[in-house]
Amino acid sequence: MAIVDELEALRTQTLDAIAQAGETAELEHVRVAVLGKAGTLTGYLRSMGQVAKEERAAVGKTVNEVRVAVEEALAARKAELSAAELEAKIGASAVDVTLPGRAQQMGTRHLINRITDEVSEIFLGLGYTVAQGPEVETDYYNFEALNAPADHPSRSLADTFYVVDRSGEKAAVRGESDVLLRTQTSGVQVHAMEDQDLPIYIIAPGKVYRRDVADPSHLPQFTQIEGLVVDKGITFGDLKGTLDYLCKQLFGEERKTRFRAHYFPFTEPSAEVDVSCGICHGEGCRFCKGTGWLEILGCGMVDPNVLSMSGIDPEEYSGFAFGMGVERIACLKYNVPDLRMLLEGDMRFLRQF
Ligand code: DAH
Repeated sequence: MAIVDELEALRTQTLDAIAQAGETAELEHVRVAVLGKAGTLTGYLRSMGQVAKEERAAVGKTVNEVRVAVEEALAARKAELSAAELEAKIGASAVDVTLPGRAQQMGTRHLINRITDEVSEIFLGLGYTVAQGPEVETDYYNFEALNAPADHPSRSLADTFYVVDRSGEKAAVRGESDVLLRTQTSGVQVHAMEDQDLPIYIIAPGKVYRRDVADPSHLPQFTQIEGLVVDKGITFGDLKGTLDYLCKQLFGEERKTRFRAHYFPFTEPSAEVDVSCGICHGEGCRFCKGTGWLEILGCGMVDPNVLSMSGIDPEEYSGFAFGMGVERIACLKYNVPDLRMLLEGDMRFLRQF
């Protein structure tokens, strides 16, 4: 066979092989076999010297044509195969959109905040506004202006955190410092009476501090919600109606309230309010210590002394006030036996609410 025919046969055969290659690795084999150092076409090039003179031009031309044709076919097929291989790879690792997602753990508001909001909402619905006062307070707002007698036990070092004197040299003792961590939100009543126009309808949620060791019913820091109304013609009946409404909203329509006479320095008369036990409904059980009732807050008619100390004429205005512990209400609402459980951060417990 003439060399040119051999070359034509090689071209056909090589282009066939390229067309049939199923992956890029096969193409590489074909390339090496034909165009590589020891490749067939390279062999023809090398032996050009032995080709008869009159054939040489035609053979050289054909070798070149075959080389170009093979190179082009290789490049074109390689592009095709690479695209297909990429497609296959993407296909194999495709996202399965039907797989269920990985659930993110969502945070929720803490029970103490939720109860605070719930009580606030109930009073906002009655037209009250929310007031705030400082947690670091003076003796005047926490005790004095609330009619607390100088020898009242809550004023003692054993019950109140007094703030260290600015010199930082020694913890201020009573008489040297009148700055303290408020033991009750009742001081906000005084701020409101001083600062706001009459009439006043406020609630004041916030943190309070006492020198108590944490136990099932005491915490050194807890949350109170204070309420204060000062208006013309306010009576004990208004107080009862308001707190009865609060209890029913908070604990359920079927719950009853009762008012027991009590003493607070800043209210006269004063009362403690109980709500009927949600577990035994008044029969008496372990949760209510056999009484059928749970104590939930303190209240009373604002003492005329307290009104006049804040510049309000008790002849013209009267008012009522109340204060409750949020942690205690949370525990009563959800039958939690120990206040400390609210603060331990045990997610298994907190997630229940
Ligand atoms: N401040 C009282 C306490 O911490 C609670 C309280 C009782 C607030 C009667 C009041 C009230 O406004 O009228 O125990």
